[in-house]
Amino acid sequence: MTDPAQSDLVRAARGEPVDRTPVWFMRQAGRSLPEYREVRAEVAMLDACMRPDLVIEITLQPVRRHGVDAAILFSDIVLPLKALGAGLDIVPGVGPVIADPVRDMAGVERLPGFEPEALGFVGEAVRGIVADLGATPLIGFAGAPYTLASYLIEGGPSKDHAKTKALMWGAPDVWRALMSRLADISGRFLRVQVEAGASVVQLFDSWAGGLSPGDYRAHVLPYSKVALAAVADLDVPRIHFGVATGEILADMSTAGVEAMGVDWRVPLDEAVTRIGSGQAVQGNLDPTLVFAPWDVLAARAREVVAAGRVAPGHIFNLGHGVLPDTDPDVLTRLVELVHEIPLDD
Ligand code: CP3
Repeated sequence: MTDPAQSDLVRAARGEPVDRTPVWFMRQAGRSLPEYREVRAEVAMLDACMRPDLVIEITLQPVRRHGVDAAILFSDIVLPLKALGAGLDIVPGVGPVIADPVRDMAGVERLPGFEPEALGFVGEAVRGIVADLGATPLIGFAGAPYTLASYLIEGGPSKDHAKTKALMWGAPDVWRALMSRLADISGRFLRVQVEAGASVVQLFDSWAGGLSPGDYRAHVLPYSKVALAAVADLDVPRIHFGVATGEILADMSTAGVEAMGVDWRVPLDEAVTRIGSGQAVQGNLDPTLVFAPWDVLAARAREVVAAGRVAPGHIFNLGHGVLPDTDPDVLTRLVELVHEIPLDD
């Protein structure tokens, strides 16, 4: 089997039978790995994302080390905005910071449009990674319009997203213009990655869980649908994920996806009931469990696998990204554990 489209991970995302439960980790390419810190020592985050040689190396590191069932492109949700010319940076320990936050229509109009040439390095990196991966699929990804908008409007990370919501409720024309522009960028960024060889995509709406279901449906979901529709004809499964989205899982699952990522707050069998549509699920071990004694972690990982059986397909993952202090050896051991659990257990 050399076709990533027939891999366990892609099959699970489509709800098809697998040989063993596939596993990968959100943020697997990053600070928990010493070999990553070494490569990144002299290079700023977003500069590294624009260098195909570094992107290829960092993307492959967790596959080599952990034996995970997929690679995820080393990049960031704000990378396309940066590459297209928006004034932003990723500040270590803080996250994306925007020089000139978007607060009105003039701010939206200042945003760059999508120029495929500006993202040529992404295609080059993806082709290099896919050539090396063989039968292991590469996951491409993008930030969903709402999560991208929250960084652009707040100017940086925010707990309550108050300015974002104020604009959403108070300036509907600005909101529509901004979200339409971001849906276009997000969808086209996904498409660049799939056309270069990614076998799966994940749309991260990390901060959508801060919205009520009504606001999510009215002001956010239509734009996520546009982004995901941009790869609908390319025959790759689409995964959708956000943090603390227990109350909007069913709504998110209508965005045009084959699989739903679930954070650790909702057990997977309960998530399947809430989603109610027979889609595959991905998740959802609490990322802090890696700091618990191994027996506790192993028992909880088995519970996640057992709960995931209720869905037609299950991709094992953490309920959010790998925390920087995680011991990489624990992740390797976790991959082995999940792979060894018999499917009829
Ligand atoms: O998952 C992977 O391993 C692939 C690479 C990846 C990164 N960011 C690399 C990164 C992915 C998929 C992302 C997505 C991303 N970026 C999201 C969605 C996922 C989620 O966590 O909800 C969000 C919200 C961002 C924005 C962002 N970028 C944040 C909040 C931070 C952390 C700030 C910090 O330093 O604590 C970043 C920086 C970032 N993105 C790092 C990495 C490896 C750390 C930067 C570094 O190593 O110097």
